[in-house]
Amino acid sequence: MKRREFLLGSGAAAGALGLGGFGLAASSGAQDLVIQPASFRFREQMTTGMVSLSPNAPPPVLYGRQGEVMKLPVRNATPDYTAMHWHGLRIPNGMDGVPYLTQMPMGADEVFNYEFTPPDAGTYWYHPHCMTMEQMAHGLTGVMVIAEPEDPGFDADQVINLRDFRLDEEGTFLPAYTARGAARSGTFGNVLTANWLDAPSYEHPAGGLVRLRVVNTDTTRIYKLHLEGAAARIIAWDGHPVEIEMQMPSAKEPMLVGPGQRVDFAMTMPPEEGKTVDLVAKIPGQKHRIMAQLRAVGQSLSRDLREMKPLPLNPVAKPDLTNAELHEFVFGWTPEGGAPNDGFCGSLGYSFWSINRTPWPGDAAENVGPLATLQMGKSYILRLRNESPNLHPIHLHGLAFVPLRSNLRKLPPLMTDTMLLLKDEVAEVALVADNPGDWAFHCHVIEHQKTGLTGYIRVV
Ligand code: C2O
Ligand code: CU
Ligand code: CU
Repeated sequence: MKRREFLLGSGAAAGALGLGGFGLAASSGAQDLVIQPASFRFREQMTTGMVSLSPNAPPPVLYGRQGEVMKLPVRNATPDYTAMHWHGLRIPNGMDGVPYLTQMPMGADEVFNYEFTPPDAGTYWYHPHCMTMEQMAHGLTGVMVIAEPEDPGFDADQVINLRDFRLDEEGTFLPAYTARGAARSGTFGNVLTANWLDAPSYEHPAGGLVRLRVVNTDTTRIYKLHLEGAAARIIAWDGHPVEIEMQMPSAKEPMLVGPGQRVDFAMTMPPEEGKTVDLVAKIPGQKHRIMAQLRAVGQSLSRDLREMKPLPLNPVAKPDLTNAELHEFVFGWTPEGGAPNDGFCGSLGYSFWSINRTPWPGDAAENVGPLATLQMGKSYILRLRNESPNLHPIHLHGLAFVPLRSNLRKLPPLMTDTMLLLKDEVAEVALVADNPGDWAFHCHVIEHQKTGLTGYIRVV
């Protein structure tokens, strides 16, 4: 069998499991997405009360291609309000899925026709931005793969969607958050999954070149990850190709991947059939937890990492640092603690957090101005100051930015949409404000986002 045929064969099997296989579906034509109640067997008992895009499986990997239109009609088949957001995609503001800011929340049975052309290739994801805590915690987080116009030449592609669920012994959902958690580092799930499975194992050709896309879609956990058993390289970070040689994470020095963040590895599978590559997490109480495994099958393809050409860069404008204007944002506790008003999109009932000392008054609040107004086409430096002991993955919609410097560490210049701020860190990032609209700007620990650590930036 030739390499290509083998791959298409194994891809079809993976696709049938709904976990996304190799081989990209044509992006033309609409893919109907129905947000609906679901159930799934995590443990002995069936867990009900989930939210997905099918009755009994995780939200599928959505495939598109850079520069080609995607039509994604979303129908809400739940009794609650919702809106769908495409995390990391630099698309028109009206398609961004943020309730009250870019669209009205979708009620029961309503359809919103999302349609956009992804300007960038890479690993992205989708999740609701209305009833965010409830719907995400109950399952509605999926991965998007935007393919490069030209096949970069991998033998296989593997998506790993990491996320936790909070279940009791009977498999019933525990409350998605606690006030104690929301005021600190968040409320952690106790059932850790990859593609909703406990340490799944995926077969890939021995000695083959695999692109492993790891996506943290959890509402809370900052994963500490490393790979074992393969020669590997980091080729993309938060969707965008990495231009520098990065040190591979190890058991001693795992990499931090915060909620919303993605890392793409290029790796060669072990040449011997049956050998595995392990994606390992370090979590409290468990130094070495295997999240997912890739198992070598068949005769070795004897591929070498050095055969990989670098991924083509995405068309992100480079900021002009000599003329960039500085804006500062302070993330911390809220000075005043009124409960936010979230209209149709749910509120946790508390304000614990703030940006520039003002807690977000709630998604539906009127007359709330932007945190900053940026001029279209100009370059800016955003100084992100964490005045708290907790870590915050700070996410900006619609634009990509590049880290410049930090008071605590050397920041590699990796293009991103989400900057994980460490305790007491002050980091500067730069961007070109080249996408007009009101862009949500918030912490991606959903309990922080929904208890004040939210705002938006306007580009005019
Ligand atoms: Cu991943 Cu405002 O979102
Ligand atoms: Cu986003
Ligand atoms: Cu936070």
